[in-house]
Amino acid sequence: MSTSNGNRPFKSHPSRVRPAPGAAGGSAGTRASRVTRTVRAGLGSDSPHRSVMPPIHLSSNYYFDAPGVQHGPYDYTRTANPTRDLVAGALAGLEGGCGASVTSSGMSAIAVVTRLLSAGDLLMAPRDCYGGSHRLFSAEAARGSYDVRFFDPWARGALELAGALRPRMIWLETPSNPLLRITDIAAWARLARDIGAICVADNTFLSPVNQRPLDLGADLVVHSTTKFLNGHSDVVGGAVIAADEGLLEEVAWWTNAMGVSGAPFDAYLTLRGLRTLHARSRVHEENALRVVGVLAGSDAVARVNHPSLPEHPGHEIAGRQQTGWGSLISFELRGGRAAVDAFVDGIRHFALAESLGGVESLVSHPWTMTHASIDEPARVAAGIGEGLLRLSVGIEAAEDLEADLRRALERAARVRQAAGRETVAARGVA
Ligand SMILES: Cc1ncc(COP(=O)(O)O)c(C=O)c1O
Repeated sequence: MSTSNGNRPFKSHPSRVRPAPGAAGGSAGTRASRVTRTVRAGLGSDSPHRSVMPPIHLSSNYYFDAPGVQHGPYDYTRTANPTRDLVAGALAGLEGGCGASVTSSGMSAIAVVTRLLSAGDLLMAPRDCYGGSHRLFSAEAARGSYDVRFFDPWARGALELAGALRPRMIWLETPSNPLLRITDIAAWARLARDIGAICVADNTFLSPVNQRPLDLGADLVVHSTTKFLNGHSDVVGGAVIAADEGLLEEVAWWTNAMGVSGAPFDAYLTLRGLRTLHARSRVHEENALRVVGVLAGSDAVARVNHPSLPEHPGHEIAGRQQTGWGSLISFELRGGRAAVDAFVDGIRHFALAESLGGVESLVSHPWTMTHASIDEPARVAAGIGEGLLRLSVGIEAAEDLEADLRRALERAARVRQAAGRETVAARGVA
């Protein structure tokens, strides 16, 4: 699906990069697998020195041959840069898009996409989308950039509601953050096509290893490359991958015009991270399933949210549309905030920090951290309570993670039992 360009002077430039140039990966004329192409993205692209790994191009500017005559595809790094183009090509290949625009953060990727909306257009976005997206959409709507309606895309009647409201853009985030709710991407993409809306999927939580929204009919995929794609918690970056040239051109135009293209050094690190994405993802998933087992078997836990669980309401859809269950898990501790504090105090191998998708395991408390920017009634309406914790399971030894979790859960249980005894004693006195 394409949007109207109006009279914007779109300049065709190489940041509208096609899938993985120089990343054929196979020598026998056969097209290599996605894994091989990602591992080998940009190899052999350094013609002057024949380095195996591509060099990093930090220069902000490039020689012209004569006034007004560019030497090659590059003139100025905000507009296009060879290192950034390599990562854009690799990402487009991974997501199955026609190209990608690489941005300075996941939020700038999201901001660029919402530039495709005009005043009076309706954006429909999940009630429990990432807190920063929720904040941006609400603030832009308050100043009249577009209208926003938060909704539950997984709920009964949601497709009919959207069909009646006829939004210009439908935002999907599946699994959702932090409740891991699953949305049927193909069903929403079909509806978007029928009503002429742009269907956008934030694929940060799974990465293209575990889910490819463009194959399911979405028009655009956004990523916080800060997370699984870079994978080492040392870059903040983002990307938009487009299914068609028209949308890609608009996205690339806005990325350049707003000045939010990603820095070459970040692109270099992200490409390095991408080469191990498939290998990392295997260990993330193995560890996550072991962690789910510990949580599901603990009396200290009231509910575990992970689509691998047969009782998870999105289990069947996730099994159909995902190629892996993912390594983000959230769970509700019994005993509320006191139990949360005891758990966090007792955990050693999970760092209390925001973000996700790095090699290191993390625990976060959405109520006070990632989702604190959403006002309290909206958090409660979205189902995010004070007892909820989110884990990003890393690639450490699974047995260390399991032992650590068991210890922290026992602490949380002891605090809850002590609180229970005090309540009984207080009632007895009364
Ligand atoms: C699902 C999702 N989308 C977007 C973002 C924003 O990305 P960034 O922090 O790179 O701006 C985040 C950040 O946590 C996220 O979790």
